[in-house]
Amino acid sequence: ERTETATMIAAHELLKKFYHHLLMHTNEGEEALNYLLQRGFTREIIEQFEIGYALPAWNAAVTFLTNKGFSLPLMERAGLIVKKSGEDSYFDRFRHRIMFPIHNHHGETVAFSGRAIGNEEPKYLNSPETLIFNKRNILYHFHEARLPMRQKQQVVLFEGFADVIAAVQAGISHAVATMGTALSEEQARMLRRNASSVIVCYDGDRAGIDAALRASETLTEAGCYVKVAMIPDGLDPDEYVRKYGADRFRHHVLDASLSLTAFKLEYLKRGRHLQNESERLRYIEEAVREISRLSNAIEADYYLRQLADEFSISLDALREQMMIHGKKQQ
Ligand code: UTP
Ligand code: MN
Ligand code: MN
Ligand code: MN
Ligand code: MN
Repeated sequence: ERTETATMIAAHELLKKFYHHLLMHTNEGEEALNYLLQRGFTREIIEQFEIGYALPAWNAAVTFLTNKGFSLPLMERAGLIVKKSGEDSYFDRFRHRIMFPIHNHHGETVAFSGRAIGNEEPKYLNSPETLIFNKRNILYHFHEARLPMRQKQQVVLFEGFADVIAAVQAGISHAVATMGTALSEEQARMLRRNASSVIVCYDGDRAGIDAALRASETLTEAGCYVKVAMIPDGLDPDEYVRKYGADRFRHHVLDASLSLTAFKLEYLKRGRHLQNESERLRYIEEAVREISRLSNAIEADYYLRQLADEFSISLDALREQMMIHGKKQQ
């Protein structure tokens, strides 16, 4: 007899194939398929990521799972269907959505995320936490990315499904994503065990930058060497790849990624008119304060010298200013 865990996984595997078939080979799936093609996903990449489509019906998965002999209470605990309150009947959790299967590190399908095709909320509906799906321990595409990660000793961390898929399509196979939650310590350790350096490549908007800074702290604490990629104009990585191509993404974004400190210093410049004297002085002060937080004296000295060069200020003055901050922090 199979364990509950194995049965839940078996149900996910079958449902994944069902959703994928609906997307690729039925009239009902056409709208969803066209949406994906219009976003620039190729048929090959849709196949590779086993993307699917859930019908608008309230009972398509319920019927499918029943016909395959699965117990509905178990399927409810697997997060695939939902129990009607006060009744003994069930309905589909995912309806009229583009389905992204989520795999654990063995490559077993343990959850789904369903994207709305129009503007319905939420944009992405995720499986709940279950016996087989613990969000803290799972990264999207980790199973497939593991080997290239180990070979390159590097991984590119994204925020979203679409970004990973666009990266892989552009030939960047060492790509994974968190799925809308802050990077957990467990996830940071998963990355550290397989690669020494992590490029954090989050969305170019405010929320993305803030999340990138937080993820970078967690990764640094886990012992990763962190670099941060900057996506211009508030674009998402997938939009950037679409707009400028894979080559430019590689060379102008990934290869140009900055150390965490350099990224913070760059970020402090945003929206500042540095040709204005008082703004320039304020920037220098804030930059020195940022540098004074570094625990590594060599690193601190390195960035102070850069700042001195960039703004033609004496290194002594910057050092003195940094001592003031150092005292304040104690
Ligand atoms: P984003 O809002 O940046 O979405 O959320 P996205 O990945 O760019 O989506 P597209 O390009 O419009 O398709 C980043 C990630 O946060 C999670 C998803 O994992 C998403 O990829 N998220 C977002 C949710 O879980 N639920 C939501 O409603 C929105
Ligand atoms: Mn197929
Ligand atoms: Mn975003
Ligand atoms: Mn996006
Ligand atoms: Mn995004």
